[in-house]
Amino acid sequence: MAGSGIGSRRYCEELIRDGRVMVDGKVATLGMKVDPAKNLICVDGKKVTVSKRHVCLMVNKPKGYVSTVKDPQGRPKVTDLVRIPGVRLFPVGRLDCQTSGLILLTNDGELAYMLTHPKYGVWKTYHALVKGIPGPKALAALREGVPLAEGRTAPARVELLRVLRGPHALLEISLREGKKRQVRKMCRYVGHPVVELKRVRLGFLTLKGLRTGEYRFLTQEEIERLKELAGRGRQK
Ligand code: URA
Repeated sequence: MAGSGIGSRRYCEELIRDGRVMVDGKVATLGMKVDPAKNLICVDGKKVTVSKRHVCLMVNKPKGYVSTVKDPQGRPKVTDLVRIPGVRLFPVGRLDCQTSGLILLTNDGELAYMLTHPKYGVWKTYHALVKGIPGPKALAALREGVPLAEGRTAPARVELLRVLRGPHALLEISLREGKKRQVRKMCRYVGHPVVELKRVRLGFLTLKGLRTGEYRFLTQEEIERLKELAGRGRQK
């Protein structure tokens, strides 16, 4: 109730004590569990509408966290890293449990839709440590698209950033689509399986200043820019 703009928490408690609040037609009591999405709340006979504050924040997801709201295996969830009282957040898109890096959490369904639906095509950039050193043919195949069970991948931006001992190579791969485990499948297809994977950028957003496990709120300006970016990338 306090979140709906009626007044302070204390004032809302007074209203309840005075018997002026009804939940689904019954007089409310203090401490009663109420879900504004499911229960009808009235004060002095008038319906209370809860104003839902939209928030969006960026998390630097550690490896080993799932990006689903529920996990039957009981693994840690990326939403466990953020606690905002009264706000139920969900991840925007997915990162595999073993993938680290940038993931957004929000309670704004429209924003989540725009950032994940393939027709909006926001660029997402990954750093993939792969086995072996992909040659020009493998890099060209990754760029042009490879046939996966889910269909051919769309053109991607791929750069060989570094060659490391092992031998391993660090690739920067940018995609506008988000098929399940896409980077891992693409790299495996060209014979260079992924050893480590991290998402480092989403549109203009980077992980700058965020250590693993940390999060920060996006500014209203960043949210507007993201929506504009998704709108611009829209494919009919
Ligand atoms: N591609 C993958 O293979 N895994 C991710 O988590 C994201 C993109």
